[in-house]
Amino acid sequence: AFQHLQQAPDDPILGVTIAYNKDQSPLKLNLGVGAYRTEEGKPYVLKVVREAEQRLIRDGSRNKEYLSITGIPAFNKLSAKLILGEDSPAIHEKRVCTAQCLSGTGSLRVGAEFLAKHYPQKVIYIPTPTWGNHPKVFTLGGLQVKSYRYYDPKTRGLDYEGLLDDLRAAPSDAVVLLHACAHNPTGVDPTREQWEGIRQIIRSKNMLPFFDSAYQGFASGSLDEDAHAVRLFAADGGECLIAQSYAKNMGLYGERVGALSIVCASESVATRVDSQLKLVIRPMYSNPPIHGAAIVATVLGDRGLYQEWTVELKAMADRIIRMRHLLYEALRARGTPGNWEHIIKQIGMFTFTGLTKEQVNFMTKEYHVYMTSDGRISMAGLSSRTVPHLANAIHAAVTK
Ligand code: LMR
Repeated sequence: AFQHLQQAPDDPILGVTIAYNKDQSPLKLNLGVGAYRTEEGKPYVLKVVREAEQRLIRDGSRNKEYLSITGIPAFNKLSAKLILGEDSPAIHEKRVCTAQCLSGTGSLRVGAEFLAKHYPQKVIYIPTPTWGNHPKVFTLGGLQVKSYRYYDPKTRGLDYEGLLDDLRAAPSDAVVLLHACAHNPTGVDPTREQWEGIRQIIRSKNMLPFFDSAYQGFASGSLDEDAHAVRLFAADGGECLIAQSYAKNMGLYGERVGALSIVCASESVATRVDSQLKLVIRPMYSNPPIHGAAIVATVLGDRGLYQEWTVELKAMADRIIRMRHLLYEALRARGTPGNWEHIIKQIGMFTFTGLTKEQVNFMTKEYHVYMTSDGRISMAGLSSRTVPHLANAIHAAVTK
């Protein structure tokens, strides 16, 4: 039945890890996928996650029954509070409905299918560039994908005017995907003033913002600071969707834990939206898994653990920022041609280096450095031990 099938290409991001795993060189360095590594280059399980797991094991009352279709109620409440803030009017007015979903990707996908079914305008605008999975998630979710300008390669900064022009020219009511913070892959975020300008256009055209929040706490080290854009939009009383992931900020990559929140116009709308979300989720995967969400609910629901989490999160964010400075200094020390200030200016897990596909290929072939072909480096995969090797590779690539 499947003789006609062609071999599909590996995923542009996850495929980098496959290629890396095949490489036998001791020098090899995986800076592809956005996954945090310690100074020793090892995956990191947060101490608060270990502690929460111990507590879950000790709690003899827990069982393995099915969760409800939208997951653990306490997890949902705490997730909405984490992104919207302690004193969010939308939460107090019970206008927010939240469903536990399969990490950020699953939350985006459920949101897309919900919109395709119930929102009259089926077009979603996504930034250029954006996370490689976005266009696929939204297209398969039933939306038509269009793009708005975001990054200007010349300035290596935000193309703010281009962004505003494209949103002005977009149909009113369109859905607009926004990276809540630490834009992936560019590491370029709007300033607070620019966010306000974006908000005004979106609201004046009655567009629907859909936030992808995959890095809360990772951009600045502060959970509140990184929620600024989402809270700005929620504060005006309007509607929005938010996909949250706990992959990075709680290191729960493989547990697939995230949430979709929909901020609605009223409590009664939110109740109906919630009922309809269940109809989207039930035939897709029935109901979500327990473990990851139970960990998150335990950490977020306990003052002491929450406090410890913020400390560990800040330490991860700070280590990434330190790597930015080390790499920048290493390139300056080598006299590598070009201006590399964007390495310390961009924020979040990634540096969008500006290296070409050919240069990336060269670095992989000659230096065993693995990264996505768009020139994106996961700074979280670097350590002070590996920075010199990366700097040598970049230097050789640009002086070749
Ligand atoms: C990334 O962009 O590297 C991460 O979001 C991981 C992924 O799933 O692609």
